[in-house]
Amino acid sequence: MIKRPKGTYDLFGEDSKKWQYMESVIKKILKTYDFNYLRTPTFEETNLFKRDDEKSEMVTKQTYDFEDKSGRKITLRPENTAGAIRAIIENKLYLEKNKNFYYIGSNFRYERPQKGRFREFFQFGIEVINDRDYLVDFNVLLIASKILKTLKIKSTLLINNIGSESERAKYNKELSKYFTKYQEKLCPDCKERLSNNTLRILDCKVCSSNQFFKKAPKISDFLGKDSKEYLNKIERLLKEYKINYKYDTNLVRGLDYYSDLVFEFISSENQALCGGGRYNNLIKDLGGPDVGGIGFAFGLERLLNSFTFNDNDKLRCFIISDTLQKDYSYRVLNKIRDSNFYSKLDYSDRNFGKKLKSSLKEEPDFLIFIKDEEEKNKTVTIKNTKTQKQETIKEKDLIDYLNKFYKGNENA
Ligand code: HAM
Repeated sequence: MIKRPKGTYDLFGEDSKKWQYMESVIKKILKTYDFNYLRTPTFEETNLFKRDDEKSEMVTKQTYDFEDKSGRKITLRPENTAGAIRAIIENKLYLEKNKNFYYIGSNFRYERPQKGRFREFFQFGIEVINDRDYLVDFNVLLIASKILKTLKIKSTLLINNIGSESERAKYNKELSKYFTKYQEKLCPDCKERLSNNTLRILDCKVCSSNQFFKKAPKISDFLGKDSKEYLNKIERLLKEYKINYKYDTNLVRGLDYYSDLVFEFISSENQALCGGGRYNNLIKDLGGPDVGGIGFAFGLERLLNSFTFNDNDKLRCFIISDTLQKDYSYRVLNKIRDSNFYSKLDYSDRNFGKKLKSSLKEEPDFLIFIKDEEEKNKTVTIKNTKTQKQETIKEKDLIDYLNKFYKGNENA
């Protein structure tokens, strides 16, 4: 039997319902924030990701690269920001009135698979094309937080200001000097990072327990007045809008295009649900205008894992009729569905008892019985499966009846 490739998975059953629900919640929220859907190819020219200024491990070690039949160098996208920016430049979308974009799609990273880490995984993300502005940037944090709150997912927001290019360059120099003193104690990966990506040492789970690690210079000591004021404004808004956060000067993120604000939302299982930040040079570096951007991406598998389905879309009504009332029952079914209640009808000609038994297995809120009497009198007999209360009501009053019930049971 052929099995799925390592680090991939199939989506089905309850998870596929959860997935679709999550996607619909996200899309609904983004509509209120005025975002446009942007879809880019899953593979791009390798050069888009492998740039001289991008030394991150994700880009240098984890990409799926290949040559197509004409010898073009191609890479499966490891993330969606570079592709989104390429599309925004190529299609001149930076000239549009609305410069808010979102995407949902798969990404590929050759990583060691484990819980919440796949080789093909899905991200939902946004990119906002705008120069640094504390309100625009805070708004991006607010959107991510709103999504998590709406899905009732507990998380902690970590933020850091990694400063402007010049502030970071000074910091990098000091950090490099500092860690060089402890070179022998660094793990093999961090030894390599010392020469090409010093900031990433701060992110190392292996080295972080060392005493010398805790005394390393902090970026906060290298920020100028402007950067400090910007961070203060963001923090003031986070407090005003009651978004719990921690200022973490070790948060550096895995990609090199960031400057100023970077952030992550961490789950209660200590996994990054969402990561993002500001990028001021990426658009220019990819051949576009000199304008900045900010965005984030959620890992949808991780979101799914933290999300408990409070199934508002659960089966509301199951109609059971005798063979002879099929047409009438079908009419009632469609009336209920037109009012957006998830409902079913057993179309089979099995006897009433058998239909009742199997319908109960699906745990509907209501059973609706339709026999001769009901059809004749244009009524339905409705039974609340929790309270066992059963009554016969006019068919024309059924939707009002259901609406009233769910209004009084908002969280049902
Ligand atoms: P990232 O932190 O590399 O950022 O990925 C964002 C999210 O994708 C992570 O927080 C995590 O939830 C999920 N993720 C990453 N790798 C995997 C994996 N192997 N398996 C499952 N989930 C994973 C970016 O990709 C940036 N493009 C985000 C961004 C948008 N920055 C600005 N705009």
